[in-house]
Amino acid sequence: MHVLHVVGARPNFMKAAPVLAALARVSGVQQTLIHTGQHYDSNMSDVFLQQLEMPPPDLNLDVGSGSHARQTAEIMSRFEPVVTERRPDLVLVYGDVNSTVAAALVCSKLQVRVGHVEAGLRSRDRSMPEEINRIITDQLSDLLFAPSEDADQNLRREGIDASKIHRVGNVMIDTLVRLLPRSRRYKPDDLPARYALVTLHRPSNVDDPIWLRELLVALVECSQDLAIFFPVHPRTRQRISELDLQTANGRLCLMDPKSYLEFLALQQGATVVITDSGGMQEETSFLGVPCLTLRENTERPITVSQGTNQLIGRDISLLKSEIRRILSGDTKKASPIPLWDGHAAERIAKVVIRGQHLL
Ligand code: UD1
Repeated sequence: MHVLHVVGARPNFMKAAPVLAALARVSGVQQTLIHTGQHYDSNMSDVFLQQLEMPPPDLNLDVGSGSHARQTAEIMSRFEPVVTERRPDLVLVYGDVNSTVAAALVCSKLQVRVGHVEAGLRSRDRSMPEEINRIITDQLSDLLFAPSEDADQNLRREGIDASKIHRVGNVMIDTLVRLLPRSRRYKPDDLPARYALVTLHRPSNVDDPIWLRELLVALVECSQDLAIFFPVHPRTRQRISELDLQTANGRLCLMDPKSYLEFLALQQGATVVITDSGGMQEETSFLGVPCLTLRENTERPITVSQGTNQLIGRDISLLKSEIRRILSGDTKKASPIPLWDGHAAERIAKVVIRGQHLL
């Protein structure tokens, strides 16, 4: 059996790594790894592949950046001949980035089976490009690997046949469980006892200069009381440079994007995480670290109902009061989320192998 995996952007790598490893342990499975090149900076891609101990990609499509239409179309036209030539039995796509939907579209037109890892998440906010990517990818997929019960229910509600849906748990947590012990070696010696860790990259936060300025001013203010570490995504770095804003006051430390292990060490020790990332809502819930999410909604509601996540939206005064509350020791307690146990990829491998008879 030949399984071809498609990755392209930073959050794909932590999801694909455990699935590649689980399938590598099964005899008779040939695997191909295709990198679309959606993320191309070394600190957004190569360092992740190395630390996650992934095999080097068999091919990099080098698509680079562009508008959504251009980037998606470029991935499709470069990926189509790869599928035609290599004829995989199954293509696995991950998460909700443009590479995910582009690959799923190509495969469905070529009638090659597609499996979507992290299926069924919904924010019900179609202004998010990722929501469109999620809905389309799920409609096109033959195997839908759901991380949680809400995802499973969303898929059924959208009319997807129950026989295609497999609730396997969260592959990102597989990687976290595996690498958490190793990440402790990456903890900087000079970390203060209490600090906030910030990441921001959603267009809704960083592409609106008035809001981005307001947010950064608030962070500078908060940094008088609490050190703030802010590894900056390239897109955000560009937007901040356009603001002509003095961020060097207080203890707000803007830094280059961190590697997986460095970042995990920072995340685990943080007093509070402030973010608009999807994956970090999950990781903080697992780690029991308070998370304030700068979004109006989330496609991962289980992190709010059972985890440590809290939606802050665009409310600066709520952000400040929640930071104060957390600093006073009044934190939300998380309960373990079913199937977020480090074994999701093994369950995916079992489903893939079981489905061989359909080929
Ligand atoms: C993409 C995903 C988003 C995911 C995020 C993780 C889509 C629609 N969005 O957003 O869901 O949460 O990745 O990071 O797929 N850039 C670089 N170097 C790189 C990559 C990007 O400088 O290696 C810059 C470019 O200016 C580019 C911009 O970042 O235009 C945005 O990159 P892009 O891949 O379009 O989307 P992300 O914002 O990274």
